[in-house]
Amino acid sequence: MNLQLDPASKIENSHIDHFWSDIAEGLKSSPKHLSSKYFYDKTGDHLFQKIMAMPEYYLTKCELDIFKNKTAALADLIIPENEPFDLIELGAGDAMKSTYLLKYLVEKNIDFTYMPIDISGNILSILNEKLKSQLPALEIVSLKGEYFEMLKKAASLSSRRKVILFLGSNIGNMNIEEAEHFCSDLNKHLNSGDIVLTGFDLKKNPHIILNAYNDKAGITAAFNLNLLTRINRELGGDFNLNQFEHYQTYDPVSGACRSYLVSLTDQKVTVKNEIISFVENELIDMEISQKFSDEKIRELGEGSGFNMIGELKDSKKWFVDTAWQVK
Ligand SMILES: C[S@@+](CC[C@H](N)C(=O)[O-])C[C@H]1O[C@@H](n2cnc3c(N)ncnc32)[C@H](O)[C@@H]1O
Repeated sequence: MNLQLDPASKIENSHIDHFWSDIAEGLKSSPKHLSSKYFYDKTGDHLFQKIMAMPEYYLTKCELDIFKNKTAALADLIIPENEPFDLIELGAGDAMKSTYLLKYLVEKNIDFTYMPIDISGNILSILNEKLKSQLPALEIVSLKGEYFEMLKKAASLSSRRKVILFLGSNIGNMNIEEAEHFCSDLNKHLNSGDIVLTGFDLKKNPHIILNAYNDKAGITAAFNLNLLTRINRELGGDFNLNQFEHYQTYDPVSGACRSYLVSLTDQKVTVKNEIISFVENELIDMEISQKFSDEKIRELGEGSGFNMIGELKDSKKWFVDTAWQVK
């Protein structure tokens, strides 16, 4: 029998294959690791919205302070004068902060198209609905997929100047070396004069940082454990969530804040017929949330082929949105 898959099933199957090959690689490595980009299924999107609302999670409040209270200064910094452009947001999520900028630009009758990119189709549909009702005049083209794949698509859709938003310290989900590669690649995907605004979480009192990722209500723990649930559902795994515990560290010297899951016992887990063994107290490295110094941010921009054109900090000076222009 010749079974024909429809195009949607082919795309879904290729997503699952990709997901499985990343998960298998991570769980067979030593130490074990999983990629935090897979945190964002429907439950993960919802848990992340709860994280952003937690009192301990200062990052959203700080960046919101910039987008809500310094909107005109922000627009002056990154918006090309008298030239239509595409405003592309990498990992847009629910665009809670950028909506203030979008509203400002729409009210000023600026000619632009908003292109949110996200790997989560669920959060993009939530965002689409929200923007359609709050800003009906906004021109929006949603791009579901990985950052660079979708940036290429955006370039193929229009040759207008690109202004990139990369907010929420998403860049912190890479270690310093990965961030250097990412910024150089980003530069290569853009043209001279294009602008990038990146949100960096700054080094600060280590207790404040650790508390933001170690909330007493256990929402961050649930966010991490949810990836095991996703593996169980989408890859036929049999992780017992009661046998893993969230553990958080922050190293104020390197600025690396790391989330782990700890195996509470010797155990075997089966995923897609592969058996993965854990010994008691073995870790899965789940996510890095890198914190930056002003100096490191400058080095990162200059080393990746950008000119620094300005920055805005929140009133506590805990977070910075930095604008770079492609040379
Ligand atoms: C930490 S949330 C931040 C959302 C938003 N930028 C903010 O500041 O509130 C990260 C978002 O990036 C998306 N994401 C993570 N890795 C991605 C990737 N490699 N390509 C596209 N989107 C990605 C996730 O689905 C999620 O919505």
